[in-house]
Amino acid sequence: MFLGIDIGTSAVKVVVAPAHGDVVATASAPLTISSPRPLWSEQAPDDWWTATVAACAEARAHAPDAWAKIAAIGLSGQMHGATVLGADRRPLRPAILWNDGRAFAECNVMAENLPGLGQIAGVPAMPGFTAPKILWLRDHEPETYGAIAHILLPKDYVRLQMTGEVATDMADAAGTLWLDEARRQWSDALCEASATDPAWLPALYEGTEESGRLTAEAAEALDLQPGTPVAAGGGDAATGAVGIGAVKDGDAFLSLGTSGQFFIADETYRPNPESYVHAFAHAVPERWFRMGVMLNGASPLAWFSSVAGADIPTLLAEAGQAREDRLPLFLPYLTGERSPHNDPYIRGTFSGLESSTSRGEMARAVIDAIAYCFRDARDSLAAAGGVVDRAMAIGGGTRSDLVLQTLADALGLTLVRTVGAETGPAYGAARLAAVMSGELSLDDLAEKPATEKVFEANVDQADHHAERHRRYRALYHALAPLAR
Ligand code: XUL
Repeated sequence: MFLGIDIGTSAVKVVVAPAHGDVVATASAPLTISSPRPLWSEQAPDDWWTATVAACAEARAHAPDAWAKIAAIGLSGQMHGATVLGADRRPLRPAILWNDGRAFAECNVMAENLPGLGQIAGVPAMPGFTAPKILWLRDHEPETYGAIAHILLPKDYVRLQMTGEVATDMADAAGTLWLDEARRQWSDALCEASATDPAWLPALYEGTEESGRLTAEAAEALDLQPGTPVAAGGGDAATGAVGIGAVKDGDAFLSLGTSGQFFIADETYRPNPESYVHAFAHAVPERWFRMGVMLNGASPLAWFSSVAGADIPTLLAEAGQAREDRLPLFLPYLTGERSPHNDPYIRGTFSGLESSTSRGEMARAVIDAIAYCFRDARDSLAAAGGVVDRAMAIGGGTRSDLVLQTLADALGLTLVRTVGAETGPAYGAARLAAVMSGELSLDDLAEKPATEKVFEANVDQADHHAERHRRYRALYHALAPLAR
């Protein structure tokens, strides 16, 4: 049995699965985000470990026999979070997360310090990434900056609690702006451009390599065997890909979680920084991927549910009845946007509301907006040479047929919802652990899960969505100057 642990943004999720066969247990424990100032998004690193222990206890309660047979562990996590530790390996401050927008000016400093940064790092400097946040700490919290001894990504802080090792993997390192993506090693030039001492960075492993073993203390907290090996794992984009077998050239999927990702696997490194597409190292050796990342993914639907006073199934039912000729437009940028705008300041808006506009029509506009930000990502990927006509879909947002059909229609793509589409990254992490243990081969990782439902694009919806997407983009460009 293998245990996959995903340190997500809204929850820690765990999966217990054999190398071959169905998932045996899943469990999760919630996390909260704190936003003490505009543009800030933070979490306390110790909450990740507390939630990991809680989620593991729940999974163990569901499947005690399987739990007793866990042979290895794989880690996955939200990418880019700056977790700065002192020499005592304790956090110096809350972690600064992937959707934090404070380090915008520092991105310009990095770009000036190192023209050509995007070719090495696979993407231009954008505020959510790790390196510009270190420049921000230097200028705004010099005491913290002066005490830094280690910088970890979120799941690597959990690894430290589990194994005592300061380590990361290529696919999470890929999102720091310190990795030379082509060579798969830390880049001195990128460190220099961001006032980062390379000695602060963790040891680098491929996702399928062993990064350490469970300490006696961690084994007791998790009720596992001391010495259980822990695979390096990956950032959640790459582990989500591994979970559905997206490891070969052209394998594509959309991820509909707290964030949104449009992902294409590559067998060579194909950077195109001008398009803001991320060209990153995969969690599998000698593989890369290209990806557009939307900061708000499927979360606008959860937000609208909370303010509209209706649960999501009710909203989806009402949205399904909405008349298409009188829909408002919605911009889903509740926490700013990364691909394709690189704009931490923009915020959400409804436009075109009438006295007769219903809640269902507003919900429908929210769903359309989720689809239109993926359409933007599709266009960015196409500009970077990544064109696909079929993609899988993973993440909590895939539960809704209406959401997936709208995405298929608005993108002109065939979308495939696979069995287990919601388990995603944690399952991918468990599979990386199975490769490390020799129970799966790298070729086995390319196997796709069974299809649950296929969503074909309705051609008669193409003009409707093309026109609404045109107006959606115009609305963004009209509002962007007002948001600064
Ligand atoms: C990827 C990204 C997000 C986070 C959150 O670049 O920023 O998808 O990994 O899960």
